[in-house]
Amino acid sequence: MILKGEKTILRSIVLSDAPRFVKWFADPEVTQFILAKRVTLVEERKWIRGLAKQKAKLTCAIDTQDGIHIGSIDFHKISKRDKNATFGIVIGDKRYWNQGYGTDATRVLIRYGFQKLKLHRIDLEVHENNPRAIAVYKRLGFKKEGVKRERVLRRGKFYDSIVMGILENEWRAKSK
Ligand SMILES: CC(C)(COP(=O)(O)OP(=O)(O)OC[C@H]1O[C@@H](n2cnc3c(N)ncnc32)[C@H](O)[C@@H]1OP(=O)(O)O)[C@@H](O)C(=O)NCCC(=O)NCCS
Repeated sequence: MILKGEKTILRSIVLSDAPRFVKWFADPEVTQFILAKRVTLVEERKWIRGLAKQKAKLTCAIDTQDGIHIGSIDFHKISKRDKNATFGIVIGDKRYWNQGYGTDATRVLIRYGFQKLKLHRIDLEVHENNPRAIAVYKRLGFKKEGVKRERVLRRGKFYDSIVMGILENEWRAKSK
């Protein structure tokens, strides 16, 4: 699968992507905001092999338009019955932070979710101390729906996890 944005291209993850994930997930600055932790090459290759079998998930690599692999993006817990999914993203290569890649990739996958997967709702969780991610989600129309208090423990401190969501009609109104 290939989805094109203005700055990014989303494509299927392949085994040769594994070493980059290993490098990115060894960086606490990257992993402090996500579920993924340090992984070995063996573990990462196993994870990639398993992706194809997972029915309720859609996981893509994020490439720049020049074909540089900078991260990954996904829907997990896709519910066909309830027409919803949970969203996640990581730009693992920090040199590409704050240049609009995250916004572009998110916009592309959200559009795919609503237009092609016919979802009704997309939600996500973001740590309270991640203003960069919160800025992206707000800009694209996600609304704060709740707070899971002190949900994550990072470097000895508990942080709230903020639940955000967007409905298909809100997305359509914003995309006009
Ligand atoms: C979060 C992430 C996907 C965002 O992608 P990105 O390409 O860096 O983001 P963008 O450049 O599209 O947008 C970032 C916005 O945050 C803003 N921002 C950055 N630091 C900020 C801060 N400290 N406070 C407020 N806003 C901030 C930027 O100004 C920018 O907004 P602007 O374009 O209006 O100026 C990416 O940084 C990332 O993968 N980080 C590590 C993992 C992670 O946090 N994943 C998300 C988990 S919920």
